[in-house]
Amino acid sequence: MKYHSHKDSAVKAGFADALLASLAPGGGLWMPDKIPTYSSKGTARLGAMSFADCAAELSQHFTGDEFTTSDLKNICRDAYDFPVPMETLSGEHLDPALPTDAEDFVLELFHGPTLAFKDFAARFMGRAASHIMGKTEQRRTILVATSGDTGGAIGDAFLNQDGIKVFILFPKGGVSKVQEQQLTTMGTANSNVKAIAVDGTFDDCQQLVKQAFGNSGLTEKHDLMSANSINVGRVIPQSFYYFWTSIQAKAAYPHRPLVYSIPSGNLGNLTGGLIAKQMGAPIDRFVIGNNTNDPFVDYLNTGTYTPRPSVPTLSNAMDIGRPNNFPRILALHDDDYDAVKKVCWGASFRDEETERHIRKIHTETGYIMCPHTAVGHLAMEKFAADIAEPFTRITVGTAHPSKFADSVERILHTDIPLPEPLAKAMRKKKRMHVMEPTLDALSDYLETHA
Ligand SMILES: Cc1ncc(COP(=O)(O)O)c(C=O)c1O
Repeated sequence: MKYHSHKDSAVKAGFADALLASLAPGGGLWMPDKIPTYSSKGTARLGAMSFADCAAELSQHFTGDEFTTSDLKNICRDAYDFPVPMETLSGEHLDPALPTDAEDFVLELFHGPTLAFKDFAARFMGRAASHIMGKTEQRRTILVATSGDTGGAIGDAFLNQDGIKVFILFPKGGVSKVQEQQLTTMGTANSNVKAIAVDGTFDDCQQLVKQAFGNSGLTEKHDLMSANSINVGRVIPQSFYYFWTSIQAKAAYPHRPLVYSIPSGNLGNLTGGLIAKQMGAPIDRFVIGNNTNDPFVDYLNTGTYTPRPSVPTLSNAMDIGRPNNFPRILALHDDDYDAVKKVCWGASFRDEETERHIRKIHTETGYIMCPHTAVGHLAMEKFAADIAEPFTRITVGTAHPSKFADSVERILHTDIPLPEPLAKAMRKKKRMHVMEPTLDALSDYLETHA
């Protein structure tokens, strides 16, 4: 597969270069030249495979000669050694044997090691990058801005890997207690993964990473690579779970339309879903849930895109005022607003509404949603209110609620037990470097630690 810059289709790269360079020359985002497509017979064949094997087959289209079929199978089987369940709120798995009034599912993407959907992309990307670097003896310094979950997933995926240093930039005081603990306790003092608490917002962290990549002195000196969803290697694997789960859902309920609701910030997750749909996944529509940082929902409703400074909310991983995958979404639809609107519908919610919804769902069903998943579920409910016909609703559960225990416990007045990986992180000593949000401060730190 060849990739081109969204700013200039004549600027091309293969998968390895697009992955390792992160951004195209001139600052463009890499886009696949061609989205592979499957017929309904093809999708049925992939749906009959395990998730890991389906991912391996899909990834063949997006990678290059550096990978054999068996390399990709090994990478995906190793990366995806956890379940990908779709559950009703009362805890039943999606299954054709369920009564047909079972319409409302959560696709729980939080059963990987860091309990967030980011594990799907980070684990594939980490293994693919090491595979390429092992063949070419390159080294890389990864800079990743995180609103909480990406840093943990990337740190976990790259921990102790030769030739790679990881610097995780997070907003000081802007991530949950559990996330901060997870981010700052990876490895030892000499570990290849370092956490940097930036005195600013997530947008400041993201801006700093962009500035670093725009500085050719820094990029060349440290062989910088981004692990944020500006990197196409993050976005492609996020199409795999939409592809595979939509086939399962359609097989269970063949006569019902299928709609996914995605709690969104930087729109990387939605981009993965849109790519899956273009590959032939049987998905009818995407619902987008935003918190009050809602430039994309605004765009869907008005046709005008107005990025703006972010404001802090309860669903902090979605506090994004300038979603960095917006240009990819336009590019996937030939810059045609009507085409985007045909597949995407959106709504945004204030924190009070999200809190109320978390309480309501817990009281009615016992299910506990993280604040992000709750925004997605609220959006799905709003969308469903105007649809008379039954349809299969899948809300994407992006994080385990215990990652946001501080807020969810306050909302529900109940303790949320921490799953073992988090409980272990909570007992460890935190290590972080606190830094002003300036490129000078970042480059000084890289000078001594990269
Ligand atoms: C828990 C959670 N939900 C939703 C999102 C939003 O995903 P995206 O930025 O791909 O839109 C994130 C991103 O950090 C997240 O961590």
